[in-house]
Amino acid sequence: MKVIIPVAGVGTRLRPHTITQPKVLLNVAGHPMIYYIVDELIRKKIADSIIFVTGHQGEKIEHYLNSTFNFKFDYVRQKETLGLGHAILCAKGKFDPIKKEEVLIILGDTLFDVNLKDVVKSKYSVIGVKKVEDPRRFGVVEKDKKGFIKRLVEKPASQEVSPSNEAIVGIYLLKNSTLLFDSIEHIIRNKVTTKGEYQLTDALEIMLRQNEKMITYNVHGWLDCGKPETLLETNRYLLDKKSNNYSIRGCKINNPVYIGKNVTLENSIIGPHATINDGCILRNSIVDNSIIDNGCHLENAIVTDSLVGRNSKIIKKKLNLNLGEFSEI
Ligand code: UTP
Repeated sequence: MKVIIPVAGVGTRLRPHTITQPKVLLNVAGHPMIYYIVDELIRKKIADSIIFVTGHQGEKIEHYLNSTFNFKFDYVRQKETLGLGHAILCAKGKFDPIKKEEVLIILGDTLFDVNLKDVVKSKYSVIGVKKVEDPRRFGVVEKDKKGFIKRLVEKPASQEVSPSNEAIVGIYLLKNSTLLFDSIEHIIRNKVTTKGEYQLTDALEIMLRQNEKMITYNVHGWLDCGKPETLLETNRYLLDKKSNNYSIRGCKINNPVYIGKNVTLENSIIGPHATINDGCILRNSIVDNSIIDNGCHLENAIVTDSLVGRNSKIIKKKLNLNLGEFSEI
């Protein structure tokens, strides 16, 4: 199975972190978010080929992936971030148009607690969905009585006009990549945009009109990493699942937590739900529900509900915020 993972977005909602790091390399529960997706695809032998669509800080992503996994990845470049549909089209050259190969698309900033093997064995194209309270931020599906998708609407203007509350959450199995690329080219040629971007949902709607059969797959464990609060939520979810049970002399550890390599902890209270990455030094500090990235130095600090970028220094401060790399407060 060929897999496309688009990672070219700029990640505005996770600024300032995404000014110095690509979003998919931001750490959650001890690994960059992209690690979990790629590890699953390789370990479960789902992917023969993984194509990353890179853009913003793409070289950092390539370096991380090539030095972490023993797998030959393919990279294509999206020169302008014109939308998810446009990003997927950038991978067209990696597919044989005659063979109409199937393709699995997984967004790079979304983790899933699902059995991908169930998804890829489907006879029909599949779109991962989850019921949400407010569908206006999402693509939304409408199904017929037999469960086949009959309509897709990207970002419905209001809850009233939304065909359902089943939102598209970022996993797609498409049985015919030739039709997919043709449909994306169609929306680009006809300048069909939603919120100024060439959306994948709009191209999938064209595929439906070409009689492509699509069904949904309920994604119960959908772990969005696109915003600070959802990144912390995903951190909590992943730490709850890991069975690590740390105890460190002179410190109070409220598991679950993650503590990386070469971390110095003295007279501190850590957790619950704290990720302390490699090389951090914490003295006389309290950290909970936060991600402290590599090489940070905390002294007499209280940090809660925060994302702290690499190599930051927090001395004698009470913190509840988002702090970019190399900050000193
Ligand atoms: P998002 O819609 O979350 O965009 O993209 P973003 O740039 O990452 O984040 P915000 O909205 O600015 O905060 C969902 C996925 O699609 C990819 C992103 O990298 C992300 O993995 N994407 C999006 C592209 O590769 N290219 C695009 O033009 C748009």
